[in-house]
Amino acid sequence: MARLRIAALISGRGSNLQAVIDACAVPDFPAEIVLVVSNRADAQGLERATRAGIPTRVMPHREFATRDAFDAAVDRVLREARVELVCLAGFMRVLGSAFVTAWRDRLINIHPSLLPQFPGLDTHARAIAAAVKRHGCTVHFVRNEVDSGPIIVVGSVPVMPTDTADTLAARVLAVEHRAYPLALRLIAEGRVHVLADGVEIDGRPGPLRLDATA
Ligand code: GRF
Repeated sequence: MARLRIAALISGRGSNLQAVIDACAVPDFPAEIVLVVSNRADAQGLERATRAGIPTRVMPHREFATRDAFDAAVDRVLREARVELVCLAGFMRVLGSAFVTAWRDRLINIHPSLLPQFPGLDTHARAIAAAVKRHGCTVHFVRNEVDSGPIIVVGSVPVMPTDTADTLAARVLAVEHRAYPLALRLIAEGRVHVLADGVEIDGRPGPLRLDATA
């Protein structure tokens, strides 16, 4: 069967991109990364893509007069590469509603919290301040409201009494690296059906949960 053609949009480190690159390197994985787009020329993820032989495009958002012009240019390169699914992986730009609508149900994101808790930035410090017992990550379809949309996979980890934002971030990142490839596999295998405010996976209510014990 043809593999799903995916693109990753990044701005930095690219460790989630790396997890997806590694997953796609396994012969029976049902997706392939055909393009990596970064809005920053110094994103470490670009080196990861190049090392894996994946084409890259650097598109500095400041070179575009408006958000819409940037979004339209990204849209164009994605279509030129015949991309079927777009994965936001640490992409630090908000995409406008025209782009989000054009790619509806074909645009996913990973967010470092158990949504709807802690949308936005500094999620790990906020989780510690709120004294939650569990924290984690969410892979979801993108909608216009930031960090919202039907949830595909949730990865949770315990919060330890001694945690700092950094130690908690590292624990969450480990589960992120399992959650993103899993969500991609489910979508690429045609097992995810998007409903109004959630998903069905294999005909049962989602999301799929990965609950790490440490
Ligand atoms: C991750 O924590 C992801 O959840 C968030 O941004 C971070 C990106 O890290 N959206 P990396 O670039 O994948 O290493």
